[in-house]
Amino acid sequence: MAPNHISINDVGPRDGLQNQPKLLNKEQRLSLINALVDAKVPEIEVGSFVSPRAVPAMAGTAELFAELEHSNSLFSALIPNMKGFELAMSAQVPVMSLVVATSNTMNLKNIRMSTQDSIKVCKDVLKVAKEQGAKVQAYVATAWACPFEGKMSPSSVFSVTEQLLDAGASSIVIADTIGAANPLEVNQLMESMACRFDLTQLSCHFHDTRAMGLANVYAAIMAGIRKFDASIAGLGGCPFAPGASGNVATEDVVMMIEQMGFSTGIDMALLVKAADLAIELTGTATGGKAKPWIENYYIN
Ligand code: COA
Ligand code: ZN
Repeated sequence: MAPNHISINDVGPRDGLQNQPKLLNKEQRLSLINALVDAKVPEIEVGSFVSPRAVPAMAGTAELFAELEHSNSLFSALIPNMKGFELAMSAQVPVMSLVVATSNTMNLKNIRMSTQDSIKVCKDVLKVAKEQGAKVQAYVATAWACPFEGKMSPSSVFSVTEQLLDAGASSIVIADTIGAANPLEVNQLMESMACRFDLTQLSCHFHDTRAMGLANVYAAIMAGIRKFDASIAGLGGCPFAPGASGNVATEDVVMMIEQMGFSTGIDMALLVKAADLAIELTGTATGGKAKPWIENYYIN
């Protein structure tokens, strides 16, 4: 990968839709994913294999995978446990994402296991994944702060990351689940991660709860990170993390990093179309701040 390339994973169809008051049907979810594919977004998180009682909006993710057409976008899905792995395997999901919160309380609320138990489950899943040739990455959630436990220590992030990489996770996404990190903390944590781990195996996931999403992306870029999650039109939020608002908007992140001289390979005009669709489908997304600017300068 060229040093000036930054890869974007749009998590709108999963992180974005899981918390919406309005449940979208299969065709609507598919139309959003296809709009992102058309915009040449390199990676897209399609949905999750979790309890439909816990997250009704994500029910039917297997049916969604069955209808996805072959494209240049790499599709992934979130899995919390072995059952999620098995369901995702049956649905032929190309990349699966485990999730572990450094905060014990958050992990219990989110997936009803302690962080330690969760790591054990992840190790079991990663072992089976290796045997079956499946690609599994992992989210380290509440990496900077937890809505219940407050600030988290960098050492807990190092420890969880190390255990998951050692167990075979293909990469690690460091997530600011509630948007509580500031750019200095982001830069410090990611600089220290860069000293300990292979930078190409790390990416970051920011929520824009306090308008620091873009600044946090910038701070992570300065620490050498070249892969980010973002969510079309700024959709997003975790139903189990009070205070979490939308992810940093994909159109904002793409515009900022392209203007800084990085390439993303994304078609900005079509990205705006995907954002318009996300706004129309949900009725709640506001769209990133960059949207009118892209409409003026990239489309006319
Ligand atoms: N997918 C679908 N269903 C699942 C599942 C999965 N990955 N894992 C468990 N289940 C089902 C079980 O089969 C069982 O169903 P039943 O009651 O019909 O027999 C039920 O869920 C309870 O199973 P159990 O193992 O006791 O789970 P739990 O009640 O301890 O809940 C999770 C654990 C992980 C399934 C649940 O908390 C969850 O799905 N959380 C989702 C969190 C999430 O998506 N957060 C946002 C993204 S980070
Ligand atoms: Zn998130």
